This record gives sequence, structure tokens and C-alpha cells, in this order.
Amino acid sequence: MILESKIRPIEWAGNHVKLLDQTLLPYEQKIVCITKYQEMATAIKDMIVRGAPAIGVSGAFGVSLGAKSLINITDKNEFLKKLEEIGESLKSTRPTAVNLAWAVDKQLELAQEQILRSAQDDRVFIDEIIKKLEENAIKILNDDIEINQRMGEHGTKIVPKGATILTHCNAGALATAGYGTALGVVRSAFARDNTIQVFADETRPRQQGARLTTWELVEDNIPVTLITDGMCGYFMKKGMIDLVIVGADRIASNGDAANKIGTYTVALVAKAHNIPFYVAAPHSTIDMSIKSGDEIPIEERSREEVTHINGKTICAEGVNIINPAFDVTPAEYITGIITETGIYKPSELNGLF
Ligand code: MRU
Repeated sequence: MILESKIRPIEWAGNHVKLLDQTLLPYEQKIVCITKYQEMATAIKDMIVRGAPAIGVSGAFGVSLGAKSLINITDKNEFLKKLEEIGESLKSTRPTAVNLAWAVDKQLELAQEQILRSAQDDRVFIDEIIKKLEENAIKILNDDIEINQRMGEHGTKIVPKGATILTHCNAGALATAGYGTALGVVRSAFARDNTIQVFADETRPRQQGARLTTWELVEDNIPVTLITDGMCGYFMKKGMIDLVIVGADRIASNGDAANKIGTYTVALVAKAHNIPFYVAAPHSTIDMSIKSGDEIPIEERSREEVTHINGKTICAEGVNIINPAFDVTPAEYITGIITETGIYKPSELNGLF
């Protein structure tokens, strides 16, 4: 059962991409129009669009827009070389979420396949590939919504009646093309049982939980309580949390999962209180090329994200800052991984792909 949500952070408008600027939520709902791949790269880096599946979809449109900028190239090998450079520039914007590289590579593979197969002259080929890349980006966007809805359906099986679900960061409609991964499970569960509720961690430094998760759940009338990051143990000890569901940016083949910084701490505290800890993520988040979470690159972001809140400094000037954007939760703390094809134990991933 699907709970319809109108929240769409990425839309294709025929000749440009419309992004809902997530840096401004919940204060302002502003749409940013992206017409060039360089603008898309900046939007991903500056987190106008964020969340692993959402930056994947955006990367796919980035390649499509990049292909259009190569319209004057007449040699198809030169076209492909330039397109690969564009793909690399998009991939380098955020290194942890594998969905970005996955979607960009899907687009590049499509271009490579076409070039191998094409008997047409170069000009016809380039026009055709530009059209196909646009169609494929639209397909990746639509597929993502459908995948999240399927994930939501599978996930309802692990949500007890009247459950209070703790989540960290934002793994919702805003972090995907729509519906969400962890919050997709919440949406599907809520459609069946409107007595469930969410506790949302604030998620410092960028406050995705406070700014984005509460915004989208309030928009969809799903009860949500905001807590600060340090409070989860308190509420777990009091027996007020029934399960944890988070998203992921990259899952290694052994089931270790990278997600927003602070997730590992939540998993440890959940384990200490025997509370199930689930990760909801599509297959495109699973990176079978790496053996464990130790191989996942962790993005380091600017010191200002930590030293400032809403443009105001919150600490002594000159203080040392380290700002890793993600951490890795070892597989042993993960009860199950909810995907579009079912729920798996971390140890089952190896037999799946
Ligand atoms: O830095 P962000 O906001 O892009 O981080 C997002 C997260 O960590 C999400 O939990 C993850 O991408 C899963 S989104 C479905």
C-alpha cells in the first residue's frame, strides 16, 4: 500500500532540470533551474540536491546535459572521450554515495554501447545518443520512485503495529527522486497503520533530520518528534523506540554500510538495547566491488559546517575542526537490509549479485 507523496526534489522540464533547493528548506521552497552539466556538478557539491539516490538521478541528468554541450563535435570517438571527462567531473563532486558513480557509469555505458553498435555516420550518431541519454536519465528518475515504493512494501513487514521508528539524517522523498528509502518504508507502513510515528535525529552538522525529515513528514501528515543527536540512548533506554531505519550511501559486499555521520553511534546504542536496526537502500547503493566498509571513501566537508549554524559562529575562533560527512556501521550491528527485491541479512548480499 502506497502513501502518495507530492514531494519531488528533481524534475525534468523538457530542456532543463528543476531542483528543489534543499539548502533553503524548511524556510523557503525555491526551485533552481539547471541547464548545464557544470551547474549540476555545483548543485551536487553544494548540496542543493543531496541524498544518495537523488544525486545519482542528478548525475544521470548531468551527463545528458553534458552530451548536449558537445553538439558541435562531429567525431564520435572525440564525443565519447569528452563525455567520459564530463562523467568524471560529476562523479568527483561527492565520493561516498556510490549511486552517483553508478548512474553516471550507466549513462557512459549506454554511450559506449551505442558507439560500438553504430554503423551510422558520426553526426547522426551523436544526435541519437544525445536523445537516448535524455531518455535514460528520465527512466532512472522514474525507476527510482518505483524502486522506493517496492522497498516500502517489503519494509512494512518489519514494522510492528504502533511502532515508534527512529531515523537519522534524511532518507526520504527529498533524498531520492520521490517517496524515499527509510522514509519510504515509513510511508508504506503509515498507509496501513496510522498509529506509527517517527523520531528524527537532528543530524548535525547540516541538520538534515531537523530541516528536511521533519519538513517532509509534516507535509505528509506523518507524526514526527525531533530529538537532538545525543538523545537517542535516553529514549531507547526508556523503551520509547521500537526500531531504527536509516538509509545508506554505500553498502560493501560484506554488508558494512556507510551513512550520515552519527549513524554508527545510533547502531551501537540500538544493539545495546536489543532494538532492531535496519538499513533501507536500493541495489544501486550496494557496491559489490569492495570487500568491506574500510574501502569506502569518506567525504570530508568544510569546517564552516561545524563552526557555524545559520551563518552564525557557535565556537571559539581558531578551534580545530574535523568534519567527516559519513561513518560506516559494521554489518554485525545491522539486523537487515531492506531493498526493492526483499529484506536480506548483511551476510546474504554475497549470494545475491
Ligand atoms: O550528505 P547527505 O545529506 O547527502 O547524506 C545523505 C545520507 O546520508 C542519507 O541517509 C543517504 O544518502 C541515504 S538517502 C536515501
